[in-house]
Amino acid sequence: MCSERQIPFSPPDISEEEIQQVIRVLKSGWITTGPKTKRFEQKIAEFCRTKKAVCLSSATACLEMTLRILGIGPGDEVITSAYTYTASASVIAHVGAIPVLVDVAKGSYEMDYTQLEHAITERTKAVIPVDLAGIMCDYDRIYDAVYQKKELFHPQNDLQKAFGRVVIIADAAHSFGAARHGMLSGQAADFTCFSFHAVKNLTTAEGGAVTWRGMSGIDYEELYRKYMLLSLHGQDRDAFSKREADAWEYDIISLAYKCNMTDVAAAIGLGQLDRYEEMMSRRKKVIGIYNEGLKDLKVQVLNHFGPAHRSNGHLYLTRLTDKSREYCDIFMRKLAQKGISSNVHYKPLPMHTAYKNMGFRIENYPNAYEMFENEVTLPLNSKMTEDDAYYVAETIKRILKD
Ligand SMILES: Cc1ncc(COP(=O)(O)O)c(C=O)c1O
Repeated sequence: MCSERQIPFSPPDISEEEIQQVIRVLKSGWITTGPKTKRFEQKIAEFCRTKKAVCLSSATACLEMTLRILGIGPGDEVITSAYTYTASASVIAHVGAIPVLVDVAKGSYEMDYTQLEHAITERTKAVIPVDLAGIMCDYDRIYDAVYQKKELFHPQNDLQKAFGRVVIIADAAHSFGAARHGMLSGQAADFTCFSFHAVKNLTTAEGGAVTWRGMSGIDYEELYRKYMLLSLHGQDRDAFSKREADAWEYDIISLAYKCNMTDVAAAIGLGQLDRYEEMMSRRKKVIGIYNEGLKDLKVQVLNHFGPAHRSNGHLYLTRLTDKSREYCDIFMRKLAQKGISSNVHYKPLPMHTAYKNMGFRIENYPNAYEMFENEVTLPLNSKMTEDDAYYVAETIKRILKD
């Protein structure tokens, strides 16, 4: 059975604005990292009210390069949430450190902050909290936890010494534009890593950015230079700065990586940034319609807007009260028959083969399992009309009555 109406989960919202920006770059004679990427970095920093931003090829690259800049590696532990996408944890293994997974708090998608504090050992160098669905974590509570355990921290280089405690690296793949406790995503954690992947609120097709907070003893420009070196083969001058005919010479400072952003991608991002508020207001409308339409059903929804926080409306996670995963999967199939795409965020990491092979057991993460067991994520994107949102809410009402 195929429905007339099709509501995709998260199609990219690309307008004539982005198309024209990309055409201009394609015709400009410079398509890889260059002036557009630098402009996009400036714009991201202005948006997040930080001094600087670095744009790279993905949030995964941003997380990994940040761990490398901090000199985190073999023998170190880095803590993240069990309830996330693999990228939050795999980067820890990529640098040779040990991923430590913490359960979420009961009934919450946020890491259990008390468990986080207990998980900090003499080997812990960083924590990667995950801003799930566009709602920022409670960074006040996370700073409390790392300061409580300050005595256990053993810095192994000057940058770690400047922090003098476990470093907070936000996995903000979902939270560009969100705010909590008066801080924008990008300003709260020591480092914040955004994703501009195709399904995100603001996209560059693939891409990411890092911002960081000012700290005494930490030089902003020096950090920026480190990201440049690490993301471009440790080469001391990028291709753009040596494009002049007689400026060929460069040095390789270290054997580094290759994860720079292209100007083609940055051009999409610049167009998206100009339309961000308009796209956000459309997401907000869908959230309002869903909240109203589902309020009398046995469906728990996330609170995207409260007195202390403002989400960016990235994902609309729901939980079907008292239902099993099996019921939810059938429910999702019925939605699909009505043309509505849905998803699950997330199957907790300890349920995946790679993490099982590392010794993680879901039995040790009962809260994460409970959240997963009846979770269904509804379509939420800026291409949806209000009519689409009413249709989704009505369809859910009907399915749950059956
Ligand atoms: C929570 C989370 N972290 C990290 C990432 C990785 O982002 P990227 O694809 O930009 O590397 C994703 C991707 O969807 C994600 O959902």
